[in-house]
Amino acid sequence: MHSQPIAIDPTGSADDSPAREVTVALLGGGTVGSQVARILTESADDLAARVGGRLRLTGVAVRNLERVRPGVPRELITDDVAGLAASGADIVVELIGGVEVAGELVTAALQAGSSVISANKALMAEKGGELHALAEQQGVDLYYEAAVAGAIPLLRPLGDSLAGDRVQTVMGIVNGTTNYILSRMDEEDADYAEVLADAQRLGYAEADPTADVAGLDAAAKAAILASLAFHTRVTLADVHCEGITEVTSEDVAAARDMGFVIKLLAIADTNREGDGVCVRVHPTMVPRDHPLASVRGAYNAVFVAAEAAGEVMFYGQGAGGEPTASAVLGDLVTAARNRINGSRGAAASTYSDVRILPIGEAATSYYVNLHVADQPGVLAEISQVFADQGVSISAVRQEGQGDQAGLVIRTHPAPDSALSATIEQLGLMGSVKEVVGVMRVVGEQ
Ligand code: HSE
Repeated sequence: MHSQPIAIDPTGSADDSPAREVTVALLGGGTVGSQVARILTESADDLAARVGGRLRLTGVAVRNLERVRPGVPRELITDDVAGLAASGADIVVELIGGVEVAGELVTAALQAGSSVISANKALMAEKGGELHALAEQQGVDLYYEAAVAGAIPLLRPLGDSLAGDRVQTVMGIVNGTTNYILSRMDEEDADYAEVLADAQRLGYAEADPTADVAGLDAAAKAAILASLAFHTRVTLADVHCEGITEVTSEDVAAARDMGFVIKLLAIADTNREGDGVCVRVHPTMVPRDHPLASVRGAYNAVFVAAEAAGEVMFYGQGAGGEPTASAVLGDLVTAARNRINGSRGAAASTYSDVRILPIGEAATSYYVNLHVADQPGVLAEISQVFADQGVSISAVRQEGQGDQAGLVIRTHPAPDSALSATIEQLGLMGSVKEVVGVMRVVGEQ
């Protein structure tokens, strides 16, 4: 499966010659790959007009040759994935997933002079630095819009449209599985385990849902978003990650009572001094009037605050064959245009020497739900623990009396380390019978 790459005109001049052709090798013929192949075939004329040359699919590498793949021309299917990756096609599209094998294939493609398009968030979050360096060395493009939030245009807006601004916060729902589960827990007062089992039955959650529910999928996406937004290199290991497995129906009900909804958020924000960025994924209480609160079901949304632009929000389908294929095709058109023009897109800028902060240095606000002894002086004693750690309380509510007294406390933002030390101290107090729930909150001033 070999094709000759097009001749690159060093003057960069383009013409409409019908002889111009851009070869495309597709690694992966699954849900996304077959949609990419279908759209490439069905929209060939439109794509040729947009690119200034025809996109010619040279092969589709799959694991199982027997499986029927509607939309994929039979004669292009091969199981020689390594051969196709290194075939020297103008553009190699990696839709295999995973880190090690996919990393080797992408490396081989870049070494062969191909531009690469990938939908692989884990690969880009772990090996993005070295792959970008190789792409730069080879003078080719490396695009991965589909790796974060499926169809939603996000990486190009962050890397290009907002490149002249100073981003302060990126905060979003970037995992549809967990948003589906949390939405149903909120709407139906249902238990986590019950909704997860249902989501698996309906195909919303994988048979092994660990990467989604443990927050790892969102953490990889957070690393990619933070790298672009803050012009630095953030890897998966830099991201503090907590999933939704500990979120209870009591937490969801308490949030609802206070006018909040629980979302698994990926957050990257600068510290007050502006010399550090903290990147994290954790369940978060979001006020019901916040734009992210209305994102229900499997949808994704990302909210960006930048110095000059103010607040910007991106919303749409974060997964699925066709939505993800849309993002892949957008990258394909851009890479193909560059190829025809004899150029490459700007490399992602990583000049910034901003520090990557541990979660303890992030400014967060907490919600704390305690079962306490309902006696004189208990509230004063508890509020003193917050004061000792320099944490300011923003709201307190008592529910029940006597043995059933519950105390719900919300705080103003404080260093996360001071808040976690406060929780530890509360757990040691004789008047605190149980720390029932603790969760970070957004929207507190
Ligand atoms: N598993 C992801 C989700 C989609 O649930 O959003 C792919 O990143």
